[in-house]
Amino acid sequence: MIRAAILGGTGYGGMELLRYLVGHPGVEVTALTSRSEEGPVSDRHPHLAGFTRLNFTKETEDVRLRLARENDVVFFAKPHGVSATELPTLLEAAPELRVVDLSGDFRLPDPGQYPTWYGYEHPHPDLLALSEYGLAECGQRDAVRDARLVANPGCHAAASILALWPLARLGLIKGRVSVVSVTGSSGSGARPKQGTHHPERFSNFKAYRPLYHQHLPEVIHAMGGDTRVDFVPHSAPFARGIHVTAFVPVGDATDDAVHEAFTGVYHDEPFVRRHDVPPDLRGCVGTNFVDYCVTPGDGVACVTLAIDNLGKGMAGSAIQNMNLMFGLEETTGLDRPGAGL
Ligand SMILES: NC(=O)c1ccc[n+]([C@@H]2O[C@H](COP(=O)([O-])OP(=O)(O)OC[C@H]3O[C@@H](n4cnc5c(N)ncnc54)[C@H](OP(=O)(O)O)[C@@H]3O)[C@@H](O)[C@H]2O)c1
Repeated sequence: MIRAAILGGTGYGGMELLRYLVGHPGVEVTALTSRSEEGPVSDRHPHLAGFTRLNFTKETEDVRLRLARENDVVFFAKPHGVSATELPTLLEAAPELRVVDLSGDFRLPDPGQYPTWYGYEHPHPDLLALSEYGLAECGQRDAVRDARLVANPGCHAAASILALWPLARLGLIKGRVSVVSVTGSSGSGARPKQGTHHPERFSNFKAYRPLYHQHLPEVIHAMGGDTRVDFVPHSAPFARGIHVTAFVPVGDATDDAVHEAFTGVYHDEPFVRRHDVPPDLRGCVGTNFVDYCVTPGDGVACVTLAIDNLGKGMAGSAIQNMNLMFGLEETTGLDRPGAGL
């Protein structure tokens, strides 16, 4: 069995990692940490009652070091800026340890981008070269297998890259791309803030950080660096899911060429499902699946795509990456349908 510890267990990432891992036949979760909570994990995450007997482990620096030495893999499920500070001592103390980080701290290869997009100087730029970006379907599968540190994609970024990459890899993008990405409220994490509090959110809809969201540089990097992408995220009144609409200029590429760009790269992907009509969120929430539809038009392709921000956009991808890192079947623990509603 692979021994796994989850750091940041009271948040949605920690919660969702545990939900998948209690059903994973090759993994034992030894600890779920918190700075603030003690007692049974199922008190905080009641849907896991009967599936876990873990109590929260009170997190201190010593506890982190012990968990790094005693486990095969550690998942960081903490806000941006934390793993960049805490991770280096763990990697040093436990030379065999593998790490999957859900935050943005190791996603961008250029340390100079961190002040602009995340508002801090990266404290360990040397480690950026160690990390691999973990989106298996978009050319990263082999790199993830060998990685010691995997930077799990951002949720908007994962959805956007999945929508664009098949065309980008064949050089079929012929101009500026527009992406509208709509997310549910769980994307803001478990702690309510003014703008994410239920009364302000449940009947509301708005754009935020137009053209300057921190996931944009990940998307551009995954496209090879040259594609121009105008990206506008929106927050919508549902809890889970991300829906992307991408308008991609494709020049004089034929409809068949556009369709084949997607089927050629995704037809064997276990978590990617092609649809003839635009997908809805209820097909993929609670799962690691990606549902997409491509509509070629006059010089443009419209790609609509849906994922669960907590699934393929976070914990699902993280476990898929862990499976690859440990040589397991990629779908282990993840191959299940959603609730459908
Ligand atoms: N939500 C999404 O859809 C999504 C998708 C992809 C990636 N991500 C990324 O994944 C990471 C986890 O996201 P999340 O949604 O699970 O966040 P969250 O619900 O806010 O949970 C983060 C947890 O980290 C712990 N923590 C440890 N150090 C902390 C610190 N210095 N400040 C605040 N909290 C701290 C907190 O638990 P204690 O207070 O109990 O210690 C908190 O419950 C973030 O980096 C996020 O950007 C999120």
